[in-house]
Parts: sequence; C-alpha cells; structure tokens
Amino acid sequence: MKKIILSLASVLFVFTACKKNKEGTYEKTGKQQELTSKELAQKGKKAMENKCYLCHNPSSSEKNRVGPPMAAIKARYLKNNSSKEEFIESIWHFVEKPTKEKAKLKGAVKRFGVMPYQKYSQEEIEAIAHFMYEYKIEEPEWFNQHWEENHGGNYKQIGKEWSEDKHEKDLASIGLDYAKSTKAQLGKNLMGAMQSEGVIHALEFCNVRAMPLTDSMATVHNANIKRVSDRNRNPNNKASEKEKEYLQEFSQQIQEGKEPQPIVEKNGNQANFYYPIVTNDMCLKCHGEVGQEIQQETYNKILKFYPEDKAIGYDVNEVRGIWSIEFKTNE
Ligand code: HEC
Ligand code: HEC
Repeated sequence: MKKIILSLASVLFVFTACKKNKEGTYEKTGKQQELTSKELAQKGKKAMENKCYLCHNPSSSEKNRVGPPMAAIKARYLKNNSSKEEFIESIWHFVEKPTKEKAKLKGAVKRFGVMPYQKYSQEEIEAIAHFMYEYKIEEPEWFNQHWEENHGGNYKQIGKEWSEDKHEKDLASIGLDYAKSTKAQLGKNLMGAMQSEGVIHALEFCNVRAMPLTDSMATVHNANIKRVSDRNRNPNNKASEKEKEYLQEFSQQIQEGKEPQPIVEKNGNQANFYYPIVTNDMCLKCHGEVGQEIQQETYNKILKFYPEDKAIGYDVNEVRGIWSIEFKTNE
C-alpha cells in the first residue's frame, strides 16, 4: 500500500510539474460548441492520453496498474447512464471532486484508494467523456477475460471505431514532402557523383556535402531536417532514445512486410515527423559488408573521415536510419 501511495505521489508530482505549459494549449480551443463532434473527440482523446493514462493506461499489466482502465470506467458508467448527457455529467460529477461515496467502482477504490483529487477543467473532462461515449476506446489485453470472470458474459464495448482525424494526416503529408524533396536532392547529387566519378568521389561528396545540403533544404522549408541512425556514420547523426525506439518500430514493420506509416507528434504549434530511410542496392556500396559490397579502399577512406563509423553491414530493404523533421504548424 505504501508503495502505491508513493508512486501515486510521484506521479502526481510529475503531473503538476508539467501541467502549467499544457494548460495554455487547451484554452486556445475556445468554445466547445464550435467544434465538430469529431474535433471534440480528438481533444478528448489527447487529453485522456496526456492526463488520465498516467493512472488509467490500458497497456499497464493487470498486476502493475495503479488504477482501473478507462474501458472499465466506461462500462461501469454506462450501466446507470443511458443517455450521453447523463454519462458525461456523471463522469464530471465524480472527477470534479472524487469521494469514496460517489465512487461506483467499489473494487477499484478498495484496491487503489479513491482517485486523488486534482483540478481539471470541466470543458476538458467533458471532451474526454464525449470521446469515451462516442468512440471505442482502447481496452487492455486482459480486459475481456477479467470482465467474464467478474461480471459474467461477453463484454462488447459500444461506440464507433476511432480513426485519426484529417489534420494529423495533413501534418504527415507535409513531413513526407520535406523528406522526399530532401531525399531527391541528396539522391540526385549522390547518383550523379557515383556515376561520373565513382564511389570514392561520391564519398567525398557525401562527407562534404550531405550535412550542408540537408541544412540548406531546411532553410528552404523553414524546418529542422535531420537524418539520424542508431548505427550512425557521422557522430552528429546519432539517434536520440526516442528516435531509436521509432526506428525499431519501423524496422519491425518492414520485417513483417508492412507499409510503414509516418509518425507525427503535435505539440502546440510544433510538429515532429518521423519516417524510415530504407536501403537499396546502391546504398550497400558504402553501407554494406566491407570486402564484399564495400571495397576495402573505399572503407579506408570512410574510416579516415569517420573513425567511429557504425554504418556498415546493411543488406537491402533494411532501415538505415530515420528522417526526424521538426516544423511549425500554422496555428
Ligand atoms: C494519479 C492517478 C489518477 C489520475 C491521473 C486519474 N485518475 Fe481516475 N482514478 C484513479 C484511481 C486510483 C481510480 C479508482 C478508484 C476510484 O474509483 O476512485 C480512479 C477512478 C476514476 C473514475 C471512476 C470513479 C468511480 O469509482 O466511480 C473516473 C470516472 C476517473 N477515474 C476519471 C479520470 C479522468 C477523466 C482522468 C483524467 C482527466 C483521471 N481519472 C485521472 C486514479 C487516477
Ligand atoms: C558513396 C557512399 C555512400 C552511398 C552510396 C550512400 N551513403 Fe549514406 N552516407 C555516406 C556518408 C559518407 C554518410 C555520412 C554523411 C554525413 O557526414 O552527414 C552517410 C550517411 C547516411 C545517413 C545518415 C546517418 C549516418 O549514418 O550518419 C543515412 C540515413 C544514409 N547515409 C542512408 C543512405 C541510404 C539509404 C543510401 C542509399 C540510398 C546511402 N546512404 C548511400 C555514404 C554513402
């Protein structure tokens, strides 16, 4: 019990510590009446993930969780509240000031204690409840079985299937355009250099030109365009922990033969875009096996420029790195 209180306390601390700068982004959304149902749900979904998943995360294991999953709350609250208005109203009624008496999930209260009080805006909670009511929300893997054991019968969540809204798709295509035009520029010059004067010359071109080239593209696009890798050649292109995670995700998808989808994160008016860079035959001349695709002479030269090179040993259709592009959205 002590451990849970401690972890709740630290969770709350982190939560309040980052709350300030998050608050501003919500105010901007203005009157909820002016949002479409889908837009309001989008707000609600984001807010739920940012503020409630701390304790209500559907991917926490049954053993390690610190609160009931939102899907359980939805199921319980739908029992007494058939209309959407009642549903939203009763969620707010609890969250506004949680007490043991008001709580409907008696088992959860027993196991985790009453939900710690935290000041939330009513607008925000209503957006969350709107999303929960209208759409299917994520369920933990263990949830169905848990439901059967505790409540009997099959559980089937009501609501529409959620699909990402257009705006995120728009941001993804902006990011893809940045990546494509930079790639085209890099590729054209690289191919040209390889064809006219061979790999060694191309290498010199890459070494001298690759970085400034991406920089100049960045200036054209008013974006910060990077190519990063977990096995980087240039020390400046080292992937951050987060970028490495995404790289792994993309690798997995490509291994499974899936078409990777760009990852877009939006934070206020800044967007971060991630997309894999995949090898083809040509790349192996400088990123393949030394002594096979890479001639020893070429590799000596590579090592001269990049003594800490890690970017060899690739085969075709492998994730050599990712585009990591930051740009401003116009809002
Ligand atoms: C610091 C942890 C924590 C955070 C953050 C948190 N909750 Fe909870 N919440 C709990 C716990 C623990 C319970 C289970 C005990 C209870 O029901 O009071 C709970 C239960 C609930 C319940 C069901 C109450 C009942 O028993 O009838 C609702 C509704 C709820 N939370 C909504 C939210 C929403 C919406 C957010 C995000 C805005 C949120 N919670 C954020 C810990 C948290
Ligand atoms: C002529 C040799 C050569 C060829 C061919 C080549 N690269 Fe590179 N690559 C380099 C060099 C040199 C660097 C380091 C550039 C720098 O300093 O920014 C590099 C860097 C990279 C980076 C940035 C991350 C890092 O390791 O520093 C990626 C991603 C990358 N290459 C992908 C590819 C892909 C994909 C292909 C094939 C389409 C390819 N390269 C073909 C020489 C080459």
